[in-house]
Amino acid sequence: MPAVHMTSVSKTYRRRGRPPQKALDSLDLVVDSGGVHGFLGPNGSGKTTSIRVLLGLVRPDPGGEIRLLDAPVPAGLPDVIGAVGALVETPLFFPGFSGRLNLQLLAEAAGVSRARVEECLETVDLRDRAEDRFKGYSLGMKQRLGIAAALLKAPRLLILDEPSNGLDPAGIRDVRELIRRLGADGRTTVLLSSHLLAEIQQVCDSVSILARGRCVASGPVSEVLARGASGDLRVRVPDAAAAAAVLSAAGFAVAPPEHPDGRTLLVHGVPAPGEVTRILAAHGHYLEELTPVTADLESAFLAITGDPA
Ligand SMILES: Nc1ncnc2c1ncn2[C@@H]1O[C@H](COP(=O)(O)OP(=O)(O)OP(=O)(O)O)[C@@H](O)[C@H]1O
Ligand SMILES: [Mg+2]
Repeated sequence: MPAVHMTSVSKTYRRRGRPPQKALDSLDLVVDSGGVHGFLGPNGSGKTTSIRVLLGLVRPDPGGEIRLLDAPVPAGLPDVIGAVGALVETPLFFPGFSGRLNLQLLAEAAGVSRARVEECLETVDLRDRAEDRFKGYSLGMKQRLGIAAALLKAPRLLILDEPSNGLDPAGIRDVRELIRRLGADGRTTVLLSSHLLAEIQQVCDSVSILARGRCVASGPVSEVLARGASGDLRVRVPDAAAAAAVLSAAGFAVAPPEHPDGRTLLVHGVPAPGEVTRILAAHGHYLEELTPVTADLESAFLAITGDPA
């Protein structure tokens, strides 16, 4: 049973005097149970809107289907919402109360034990600062307290919307470590939204990529990101023009020598670089350099989402 299953879900924001804004456009999304699932997309691609729709905070356009822990949304939400923890944007806490008291109040309202409060403080590594007032917390500590609050009910599904936004590098590292730990313990499925490819790579097992309100790629992180790799090779030889002719004749797609020195050329979509080496050597062109042009993270992302750089 997938933790999240959205089929053809659309959401159009309509505000008087403004053109309608299609935030979700027939979105299909499946999040399997277990591990950390990334929800990657540029600003405005619809991540927060999908999360809001999932939690019943925003009403989608008629027509699609949404299941959360197998319950239909919104009708079945009351049955499952107790098993879902979410951190969407900055959580609200009483600034003058300690972190512990804030959690205790939430726990009481949710019928959760004091012992569980201590466990959650421990999980997010805030036990020794638990008596400090919330307003004295760093941004990273505030965010970790937010995650602790989302964990109180020991959720089967934990939804985190860009939890490392605005944190400094140490804060980001702590939050990422925490998410990895939560995903690894096997009891919780984590859905983590982010616009940072590197974050998804570090933390997630699987990923869905959102662009303009649609899911454009989904699957294990390594597989999905490999689709953005170019397979191009940069080749340096003493006579690039002659080498290019040899490779073209052998059926390779060769770009004209890109460097004014006339020694460098680009070969497109090469599955086995050894073949390029062999053919060139057989014709007396000895390589000075052969470099796979690995698409950097950002261009891989842009290649997948189809956004112009
Ligand atoms: N309350 C709203 N009223 C009108 N338009 C909205 C509203 N909320 C979101 N939108 C629009 O819907 C689209 C998707 O926004 P959303 O916040 O879901 O994107 P996001 O992927 O979470 O972006 P970010 O990375 O910036 O958080 C955007 O074009 C946004 O302007
Ligand atoms: Mg957002």
